[in-house]
Amino acid sequence: MDLAAYLSERTARINAALERLVPPETQPPAVIHKAMRYSLFAGGKRVRPILAIAAAEAVGGPCPGIDQAACTLELIHTYSLIHDDLPALDNDDLRRGRPTNHKVFGDAMAILAGDALLTLAFQVLAECRAISGDSRIRLIEELSIAAGTVGGMIAGQVFDIEGEKQAPNAQILDSIHRAKTGALLSASVRMGAIYAGATTEVLEALSRYGAHIGLAFQIVDDILDSTQTAEQLGKTPGKDAAQNKITFPAVYGLENSRAMAKHELAAAGAALDGMGDSADPLRAIAHMIVHREA
Ligand code: IPE
Ligand code: IPE
Ligand code: MG
Ligand code: MG
Ligand code: MG
Repeated sequence: MDLAAYLSERTARINAALERLVPPETQPPAVIHKAMRYSLFAGGKRVRPILAIAAAEAVGGPCPGIDQAACTLELIHTYSLIHDDLPALDNDDLRRGRPTNHKVFGDAMAILAGDALLTLAFQVLAECRAISGDSRIRLIEELSIAAGTVGGMIAGQVFDIEGEKQAPNAQILDSIHRAKTGALLSASVRMGAIYAGATTEVLEALSRYGAHIGLAFQIVDDILDSTQTAEQLGKTPGKDAAQNKITFPAVYGLENSRAMAKHELAAAGAALDGMGDSADPLRAIAHMIVHREA
């Protein structure tokens, strides 16, 4: 399949939906809407919403309104990036090829822009009127757990920050990565599948796929941090070692980390074995996650 064409068509759909769902810059108080849009429209890869759409396509059948539900993953993800970059967390200056949100709007507005994107995500899900109220509640539950403190993104960020003061070990590493990144990526796949009305069996297979690509994604993020340039990444390289982060290269070395990412890719592919051609985009996205250069 032509993955580049697939990604560019879905990215355009996601960007159009986000444009419609996020208040315009002219809406008072203008500064918060400018700050939200500054980070949202800085050119992220849109991996999470695209995974949701691809999972719905793998399940099959028409899915009107899926773009709106998929956008909520990008709203949560962008909020997590704005807060991740704050001086109190990773203290980063560069994100998506631009100065970080707090560098432009100040810490107070960056904190509020993150809060606002988080809150907006749940408003947008509650307003997904193409599906039943019960389905909306199910999606809200998935997203809130994935973003939360029990095995979710916030839990992972806490482990990540605490890890700066701990000696690296495989067990802490696994709990950081599964939670801070794996949970939201896995929820992306699950939400798309739930939206499309997947059976329990298909949802289980897709969840296994999601867990493997979620882990692979952060392994590769760690590798890229230590091997790429700022121009390639659009963010500051070498930050993890400088901040004593517990990463895959720190625990296993670069070559083993690369092999482990490939192992996760194979396991993700195996999870899809019972599925037909409709899962080809998911297969191609898994390959892209492991072989990407940014
Ligand atoms: C970066 O995520 C932060 C992690 C969770 C590893 P992405 O690599 O998806 O960043 P964007 O959205 O493309 O900027
Ligand atoms: C961030 O992990 C994960 C989030 C929940 C945002 P990193 O701190 O490694 O992400 P980057 O490398 O700054 O994008
Ligand atoms: Mg971080
Ligand atoms: Mg960071
Ligand atoms: Mg990183």
